[in-house]
Amino acid sequence: MNKHNPLSKSGSLLERAAQVYDYMPSNAAPPVPNPAPELLPPENATAPAAPGMPVPATRYDGPTVIVDRDKLREAGFIVPNGPVTGISEEFRIIKRQLLLSAKGNSRQGPLPHGERILICSAHPDEGKTFCAMNLALSIAAEKDNEVLLVDADFAKPSILSSLGLEGNKGLMDALADPALPVENCIIRTDIPGLAILPAGDQTNADTEYLASSRTAEVLNRLTQHNPNRIVIFDSPPALSASPASVLATHVGQVLMVVKADETTETALRDALSLLAGCDHIQLLLNGTKFSPTGRRFGSYYGYGE
Ligand SMILES: Nc1ncnc2c1ncn2[C@@H]1O[C@H](COP(=O)(O)OP(=O)(O)OP(=O)(O)O)[C@@H](O)[C@H]1O
Ligand SMILES: [Mg+2]
Repeated sequence: MNKHNPLSKSGSLLERAAQVYDYMPSNAAPPVPNPAPELLPPENATAPAAPGMPVPATRYDGPTVIVDRDKLREAGFIVPNGPVTGISEEFRIIKRQLLLSAKGNSRQGPLPHGERILICSAHPDEGKTFCAMNLALSIAAEKDNEVLLVDADFAKPSILSSLGLEGNKGLMDALADPALPVENCIIRTDIPGLAILPAGDQTNADTEYLASSRTAEVLNRLTQHNPNRIVIFDSPPALSASPASVLATHVGQVLMVVKADETTETALRDALSLLAGCDHIQLLLNGTKFSPTGRRFGSYYGYGE
């Protein structure tokens, strides 16, 4: 892997990450089946209701919460209906590529389970949660998509606290207790299109629960009534915790966050090999030369403040 100058402004943070690490994703999109998939109803689409019949409701049984916009702003997250910033622009570009892989278009078919995206990195503190949150907020702003942000960092969950929210039952509880429907753990937010699935209580057997056959069934339930839902998983670091490699087997896309000045080539290669259960992995360059004065992601790489 050749180190190119990460400060170069050309290309998106996906393209620049691929350049810095000389990484060619083995992610050729599947050929478009004939007829093109978007002409067919999604596999899990609910059949349209007959005239006069009630339309099946999206099942969100959990509470609804109000997200503190000031807290979002302070943490450097995209603020819904807020001003356009370097970071909101970066995530616009990133989400377009991910949505294209998830949904396909007239030239390429959707990836299997491409609507499930794991945000991972080799080590702690490389910006996974930061990127997962911003990506979720950016996709939630789309008219045609909704987002479920899943806190899959069971040992060190941080999505709820980042949003100033209280604890709740979550994914691990639903995996451990077959009587608990995962839908009941989902928290609706007042941000249109954004819902959260907390991590739930950590067990001593998180990885085993994740590797069980029940996981596929639980994850299918997350999208079965919502063909337009994108599910973003905030992962633990691949080299520090075993759940990441199991999670990779359940998703269609992995976004691997790298810090150009810190993530070594060896760590990246080791992490990528652990995530081999997913064959569509892209790198995302994150720079965290962050100061309280507001220099962020984009501006670090030379974009305007
Ligand atoms: N591009 C960025 N701009 C500004 N701040 C950032 C950026 N990326 C990360 N941060 C900040 O760096 C800190 C670590 O980031 P984050 O929590 O997202 O890392 P992580 O990879 O999820 O860590 P962990 O593995 O411990 O969960 C946070 O305070 C976060 O807000
Ligand atoms: Mg995190």
